[in-house]
Amino acid sequence: MIIIRHLKKVFGNKVVLRDVNLTIYDNKITYILGLSGQGKSTIIKHIVGLLKPTSGEILVDGVDVTKADKETLYKIRKKIGFTFQEGALFDSMTIYDNVAFPLREHTKLTEEEIKKEVFKTLEMVGLDANRVAYLYPHELSGGMRKRAATARAIILKPKYVLYDEPTSGLDPIISDRITRMIVKLTRKYNMTSVVISHDLKETFKSADYVAFLYNGEIIEFGTVEEFKNSKNPIVRAFIEGNSELFEKVAKQAV
Ligand SMILES: Nc1ncnc2c1ncn2[C@@H]1O[C@H](COP(=O)(O)OP(=O)(O)OP(=O)(O)O)[C@@H](O)[C@H]1O
Ligand SMILES: [Mg+2]
Repeated sequence: MIIIRHLKKVFGNKVVLRDVNLTIYDNKITYILGLSGQGKSTIIKHIVGLLKPTSGEILVDGVDVTKADKETLYKIRKKIGFTFQEGALFDSMTIYDNVAFPLREHTKLTEEEIKKEVFKTLEMVGLDANRVAYLYPHELSGGMRKRAATARAIILKPKYVLYDEPTSGLDPIISDRITRMIVKLTRKYNMTSVVISHDLKETFKSADYVAFLYNGEIIEFGTVEEFKNSKNPIVRAFIEGNSELFEKVAKQAV
């Protein structure tokens, strides 16, 4: 379980996260939704210890990431796979070396064993390993790159996988494939998935829980049904994609 308590993050004089409280339940798929620039990616970066909070705590299986020393952080990172929103892959490395990276970092597998795992994992995310393994990221389509990034995130079979906008900018069919893959991986390997998204269709298809970030706080949390029936006017405007309604209710909320 990941428990985020009173997470606050200030960049310069800009308060991005004011008071984020969120529990990520084991073996479930939790979506974090919210408008652009609200701090969704910032939350993920705190969970893996890439950013230090201004205040607050994040417990991963009871260990506070925000206070972890280097060694503890290394252990925590071993059980969390994550994909960045942009530039998820190392441009100067082949897909093979990108996906092999966590194995080289965290295991003592032989090159032969690494190859077996890399090829298996590429196939798992629906890529033709023989075709793509020795290509560079720029030689792949956007959808293929997202899948390769996912392969790298899951290759250690981590307990937690954090996906930052895995379907943004992709066509509906590829988006559906990626969503199905997330569901399949979560169920098959008893993983716990956190997905940041703007894609309501994919969210409603696959989420166990939905959290909505607004103005530095999680203002809604529940199952898909509960989220769909939210009475919060900000959430309603978001679901309806109604900017006029949103601006009206946002003003009233201040
Ligand atoms: N390292 C940083 N230094 C300064 N400001 C930052 C940094 N990282 C993020 N921010 C600011 O924090 C805010 C939230 O950014 P973040 O990327 O977390 O938003 P987001 O919800 O993921 O948005 P999007 O949906 O567009 O990806 C933005 O205003 C951004 O400019
Ligand atoms: Mg983001």
